Amino acid sequence: MKQMISLEVNGEAHELAVEKNATLLRVLRDQLGLNGPKRGCDSGGCGCCTVHVDGQAVYSCMCYALSYDGASITTAEGLAVDGELHPLQTSFIEAGAVQCGYCTCGMMMAAKQLLDECPRPDEEQIRQGISGNLCRCTGYAKIVEAVKMASER
Ligand code: FES
Ligand code: FES
Repeated sequence: MKQMISLEVNGEAHELAVEKNATLLRVLRDQLGLNGPKRGCDSGGCGCCTVHVDGQAVYSCMCYALSYDGASITTAEGLAVDGELHPLQTSFIEAGAVQCGYCTCGMMMAAKQLLDECPRPDEEQIRQGISGNLCRCTGYAKIVEAVKMASER
């Protein structure tokens, strides 16, 4: 049986009928068509589903959507403002921090939380800030460089 919830997603209000056991990830991807948050492990181990809920980074695969009635959600699609890329997006591109791209949106959302809390992180703080997000391609060096570049913008 479905229940109605309200979510604000990337600044837009939505009324959604969701299954009791639907995760936030499933609702964002399958009901709202947002492809930024990815389904990787689906069990809280990889971080590629990371979104912000009321400004806090969470693994959306581990959240029941019903528990977030009234919440404000930001996905990687919400980072750009008026068509202008967020400094993290520009920096990931310029630093070559994207290979297959599967981790990228979650990684940027983790990095955004870090920069929100610590605008000028050093390398260790960056590595700590993204430690909940796995990347199988880049070896992390370019991701760390991208976050550093974004912090300087
Ligand atoms: S898909 Fe959510 S942590 Fe891996
Ligand atoms: S770029 Fe492929 S998993 Fe990170």
